[in-house]
Amino acid sequence: MTTDLLYSMATSVIFLSSTGVVLSVILIFAEKKILNYGPCKISINEGEREYTVQGGSSLLSSLSENEIFIPSACGGRGSCAYCKVKVLEGGGMIGPVEEPFLSPEERKDNIRLSCQVKVRNDLKIEIPKELFSVKRFSGVVEAKEQLTYDIVHLKIKLLEPKEISFVSGQYMQLESEEYKGKEAVIRAYSIASTPSQTDRVDLMVRLVPNGICTTWVFEHLKARQKICLSGPYGEFKLSDTQAPIIGIAGGSGMAPIWSIVNYMIENGIEREMTYFFGALTQRDLFLVDELEEVAKKHPWFNFVPALSNEPEDSGWAGETGLITDVVAKHFPDTSQHEAYLCGSPGMINACLNVLTKGGMPEENIFYDKFA
Ligand SMILES: Cc1cc2nc3c(=O)[nH]c(=O)nc-3n(C[C@H](O)[C@H](O)[C@H](O)COP(=O)(O)OP(=O)(O)OC[C@H]3O[C@@H](n4cnc5c(N)ncnc54)[C@H](O)[C@@H]3O)c2cc1C
Ligand code: FES
Repeated sequence: MTTDLLYSMATSVIFLSSTGVVLSVILIFAEKKILNYGPCKISINEGEREYTVQGGSSLLSSLSENEIFIPSACGGRGSCAYCKVKVLEGGGMIGPVEEPFLSPEERKDNIRLSCQVKVRNDLKIEIPKELFSVKRFSGVVEAKEQLTYDIVHLKIKLLEPKEISFVSGQYMQLESEEYKGKEAVIRAYSIASTPSQTDRVDLMVRLVPNGICTTWVFEHLKARQKICLSGPYGEFKLSDTQAPIIGIAGGSGMAPIWSIVNYMIENGIEREMTYFFGALTQRDLFLVDELEEVAKKHPWFNFVPALSNEPEDSGWAGETGLITDVVAKHFPDTSQHEAYLCGSPGMINACLNVLTKGGMPEENIFYDKFA
């Protein structure tokens, strides 16, 4: 290939790329400045609530500006699918980001991802009634305690409103602040404290390498700092049956299980429960003494920590191997149990597999995927 040809190809590529960039900038500018959607009315649940908002933002943020908080565990990035609402009128076409998250039934039922629906005109929507009671709180970090090298326990006292009502198993959405060029984001964290402690919420946060919010929590958030969070959200909670429970959670997945166990103790609920705490090595374990103490005092509770990567010569006398194998060993027949799972999507999918193989009906398995 001659130098002239290479030069002309490179020039064309640069020209096309720059044209693309210029066109995108013009489109963004036009969307923001020229296209003025004006005031738009959002009517919720057949007019039970009505708000007039300035068009142009997402439905999710237009609602949150009016103190209606829809679950949005990924902070509006279109990756968690937690922000589904029913859009009866005015939502426009389903966008490409939404498509993979909407089943044929949901499309028929007018379900949309509220973070992807732009308010361009009047809208009629439906949301579950419980979301009217979700609030935005200010709070102060009373303590930030290291549970392991990569998990901290945040003890947060609520300032305004001063009290919260929630169910063990539910989660909050924590708002991080800008740092070192990273944007402020919103992320979901399960509540580790119990509903009886109405003036506070405790969270257990695991550091995700390069994660925006968790790096902020670990490196920038200090004790006595004020923070904002909203909640409570979520359906993950103890059922009101008497079925014996298999709890499986590792790492920060412990948070909602810890809340549920303490809620059971506080309320004298003596349902048989076995909690499998999966970890890599002994340095990933925490609250073990406390959980063993619970098991000693309460015959209905059984605690099984299991390590999958512990060196053979470490002196560890407990269970070893993958948590799924340990669960299957203890409960080859799971048909009479209910299961409560929290943690990474990979761990949960593997557990779903082993529990259903043991005969547990899928509707008896409750989980929160920390995705
Ligand atoms: C309902 C719910 C409850 C949750 N409860 C808790 C909790 O109690 N404690 C807790 O620590 N986390 C919890 N999470 C996860 C939490 O919301 C964040 O996803 C996580 O803290 C990462 O946020 P980040 O901003 O630091 O990372 P991001 O900046 O969002 O992500 C950085 C990178 O890490 C990847 N990543 C994101 N999350 C994880 C993860 N969990 N593990 C591995 N890689 C990841 C992303 O794909 C990305 O590549 C929960 C999630 C949900 C949906
Ligand atoms: S907020 Fe996560 S997909 Fe909409």
